[in-house]
Amino acid sequence: MSHPFDIAEVAATYANKSPQDILKLAFEHFGNDLWISFSGAEDVVLLDMAWKLNKEVKVFSLDTGRLHPETYRFIEQVREHYGIPIEVLSPDARLLEALVKEKGLFSFYKDGHGECCGIRKIEPLKRKLSTVRAWATGQRRDQSPGTRSQVAVVELDGAFSTPDKPLYKFNPLSSMSSDEVWAYIRMLEIPYNSLHERGYISIGCEPCTRPVLPNQHEREGRWWWEEATQKECGLHAGNLIGKA
Ligand code: ADX
Ligand code: SF4
Repeated sequence: MSHPFDIAEVAATYANKSPQDILKLAFEHFGNDLWISFSGAEDVVLLDMAWKLNKEVKVFSLDTGRLHPETYRFIEQVREHYGIPIEVLSPDARLLEALVKEKGLFSFYKDGHGECCGIRKIEPLKRKLSTVRAWATGQRRDQSPGTRSQVAVVELDGAFSTPDKPLYKFNPLSSMSSDEVWAYIRMLEIPYNSLHERGYISIGCEPCTRPVLPNQHEREGRWWWEEATQKECGLHAGNLIGKA
């Protein structure tokens, strides 16, 4: 496997650089082969930064079919605000219908989120990533002490690379704090998901997300019936290596 750069070396050199510097590096190497993975939450900051560097930035969102109405509206608002297409990916209908037929619409409360996330997020993501060379996410270290404290600014994707195609994963916001993210949103007056006005911090699917109490960690609002160290849906499965 030949790499355009030494990942470990670049990850170390860029560890303390700004998100924009990391995005510039990603665009330099991958141009429009770099895709931003946008969840319709605070990661609008990543999209904003990327769009300011490249007006043709490519963006996709995984529509699980279970997002909040506010999130759907926000994704549309972002599409119009930046004047960019957002590729909205849907789950495979046959897989989804089979799951719902067998286990109903809320199987995750009984047997964990793995199977539903597998069909509603991971399968469509895998399909998309099989066609791209690099992607960028809004993951940050402060989002989950249990699973994200080590997130590097760039890594070889441990979950979606294949033997014949390395996949580069950039996490330009990895060292930004929640305070910095919100200072950016408010200072630059960029659009945000209105759920944030109602106590939501981390936002995923409606049945698996709830607002948190003052001083509760944001991750406690996600899959709250499951173990903290396992709160990853498979999008960022690499974060769980060694934690099982
Ligand atoms: S999750 O794995 O627990 O759902 P989280 O909500 O913290 O992830 O978001 C971290 C990053 O994962 C986002 O900034 C985004 O890059 C990516 N991501 C999460 N959910 C989606 C989604 N529905 N569509 C596209 N990207 C997503
Ligand atoms: Fe299903 Fe919940 Fe995962 Fe969404 S977050 S895909 S509803 S288990």
